[in-house]
Amino acid sequence: MNNPDPQVETVVDLEAIAHNVRILVEHAGDAAVMVVVKADGYNHGAVEVAKAALAAGARELGVTTVEEAVKLRRAGITAPILCWLNTSDTDYVRAIAADIEIAVSSVAHLEAVARAARELNRMAILTLKVDTGLNRNGVSQTEYPRVLSLLRELVAAGTVRFRAIFSHLAQADAPHHPSIDLQRDRFLECVAEAKEQGLQPELVHLSNSAAALTRPDLAFDMVRPGIAVYGLSPIPEISDFGLRPAMTFRARVALVKQVAAGEGVSYGHEWIAPHDTTVALIPAGYADGVPRVLGGRFDVWLGGARRPNRGRICMDQLVVDLGDNAAGVREGDTAILFGGAPGAPHPQEWADTAGTIHYEIVCAPRGRVVRTHIGGAR
Ligand SMILES: Cc1ncc(COP(=O)(O)O)c(C=O)c1O
Repeated sequence: MNNPDPQVETVVDLEAIAHNVRILVEHAGDAAVMVVVKADGYNHGAVEVAKAALAAGARELGVTTVEEAVKLRRAGITAPILCWLNTSDTDYVRAIAADIEIAVSSVAHLEAVARAARELNRMAILTLKVDTGLNRNGVSQTEYPRVLSLLRELVAAGTVRFRAIFSHLAQADAPHHPSIDLQRDRFLECVAEAKEQGLQPELVHLSNSAAALTRPDLAFDMVRPGIAVYGLSPIPEISDFGLRPAMTFRARVALVKQVAAGEGVSYGHEWIAPHDTTVALIPAGYADGVPRVLGGRFDVWLGGARRPNRGRICMDQLVVDLGDNAAGVREGDTAILFGGAPGAPHPQEWADTAGTIHYEIVCAPRGRVVRTHIGGAR
């Protein structure tokens, strides 16, 4: 059962997800949109986000593991689902039985998929992930010819259905970076090589959020946005693209108290009150996903204004300064850590201060943090 009154929560607005998907669908033109819901929907709730996104016009879903894909099927989602971070000992039988599209990165992966398909006596839906320069997963250029010749045999034998070829860009957040065009050229060569072998993919796709929003020439048959679906700009220095952040991270004030001039606050007394003041205790700390490195360098939205954090962020709690507390903040009031209200901090501010990216900020809330969904189709 849901905790009806959590101390710390993330609230995910599914109407914002739908709004963002509509923007991406518009940018995609004739191409389909595959919404990436790996890592539990970037910590927004994969099932809820997937349903809202499909209702708003997305056509397919992308995840990393078979486990993530099966979870979506179990929730009643029938749209195509691709999983792409597989190994030779992944449970492909489970994936094939659940109609999950499997991406392979090597001959060994493809052999394992074929074994599972034969065992189940059912055709596997197969996608080739090709490495065009990111040098992470994906078939290497050297192994690609061997993958193609095995794939040709498996298609001829009816063991696999060849659904797609895709690749992933290394620097799409710099839309004019020469590596993008280089990867595009290598990608097109990979597609051409497959065709020369008589292999005809039903789809080819390359673009993540950044490319989907800035490089319409790379849309091909489908785009694969992740972060933009959640309302965070993949290139914040260029534009917010009209996206609406979906996640609000908030907590209820646990205590309001006076601190006298000269008193230190939190471990190490890194902050000493320069005058008598009032502080509010926020029951959220680094165990809940508030980066400790933000200590003394960020604000929360509370009582209609930004309130600066004072002293160190602890495992479970942090303290903010209310000054004379003219706003009358009381125990139980809601403090917004990021997102939500106009004026509240944006995950990008946390990312800038913490020296990271907003992806990591929204993926951080965990443990005690209760997630709820509002708005949209569920
Ligand atoms: C293969 C692949 N496609 C698409 C995405 C979505 O990327 P983004 O969240 O930058 O849109 C990712 C994310 O890492 C990915 O690994």
